[in-house]
Amino acid sequence: FFKQKTAYEIASCLVGSEMCIRDSLDKIDIMTKKALKISKVKLKDIDAVAATAGPGLIVCLSVGLNFAKALSLSLKKPFIAVNHLEGHALSPKLNFNIKYPYLLFLISGGHTQYLTVKKLGDYKRLGTTIDDALGEAFDKTAKLLNLGYPGGPKIEELASNGDENRFVLPKPILNRGGCNLSFAGLKTAILRLKEFIKTEKDKNDLAASFQKTVLDILNKKTKKAIEQYLELYPKNRTLVVAGGVAANKQIRIILKKLCQDEKFKIYFPDLKLCTDNAAMIALAGLERYKKKKFDKHNFEANPRWQLDNKAKFLKGAGVKI
Ligand code: KG4
Ligand code: ZN
Repeated sequence: FFKQKTAYEIASCLVGSEMCIRDSLDKIDIMTKKALKISKVKLKDIDAVAATAGPGLIVCLSVGLNFAKALSLSLKKPFIAVNHLEGHALSPKLNFNIKYPYLLFLISGGHTQYLTVKKLGDYKRLGTTIDDALGEAFDKTAKLLNLGYPGGPKIEELASNGDENRFVLPKPILNRGGCNLSFAGLKTAILRLKEFIKTEKDKNDLAASFQKTVLDILNKKTKKAIEQYLELYPKNRTLVVAGGVAANKQIRIILKKLCQDEKFKIYFPDLKLCTDNAAMIALAGLERYKKKKFDKHNFEANPRWQLDNKAKFLKGAGVKI
């Protein structure tokens, strides 16, 4: 298990990935066998079994979770329930040696949050989106432009050929609400502009203007989050950016620049480890294993499992920030 690479490969079979539910339950069995073969490890040599238990769609979570529980019971080895977001939070540790505490900016298809990571399992949310997640905003914009899913990489590509100053889009709650964020207004503005988008150039310009607006929002809000983080941890100037949207090159560039100005170290996961992957779940499992943080076999899938369970729910109409 401590041969990390091997552990990640094995865990790739055990995670409740959407692929499993789509391609039928049988697949997880085949994947397990394949991972064991590739990593040249026998089932009996596994020290623990980790699987994602939330957040996410219950049907997808249940496949991997039930399989992992059964495997752990039959092997008589500890079972570890992993929070998918903890996987993202730790993902750059697959490539870098990062010390706690750090400021985490989690930007995925379902979540957009600034959190302090004091140590493994100890998270405090500083800010969150009050409506759409950032990846969702990329995806919805792409959908309006008929670009297909996932939208992020396509918007990024079009934006590189567009005029970012052509369309002026809103930046909701830019100057209030601390480091909370909002992206729903952007989508509405783009919906209104849709009738004027006729040519390839129009599409490129809109994608570039959208991305530029996002960059401005992230620059300002990350600065705010850094301020709040430093009040708690003035000595550890480290920012970790994780989740699917962290693959965006322009976002990487502006956050690197901001961190240079703020004298912060910045870490991103490898590009292929930004979007959902089993390696990050295995790493979270491994860190928990080292601390003997095991779970019972009646641990249920939790579709809304948050990293900071004390944080207030901040979504929807009427939310006060
Ligand atoms: O972390 P992830 O794989 O899944 C969730 O846990 O949500 O993130 C997927 C999201 C999608 O919304 C996708 O459009 C976005 O990450 N994404 C990007 C890029 N690559 C993926 N967004 C912007 N730029 C990219 N290059
Ligand atoms: Zn994810």
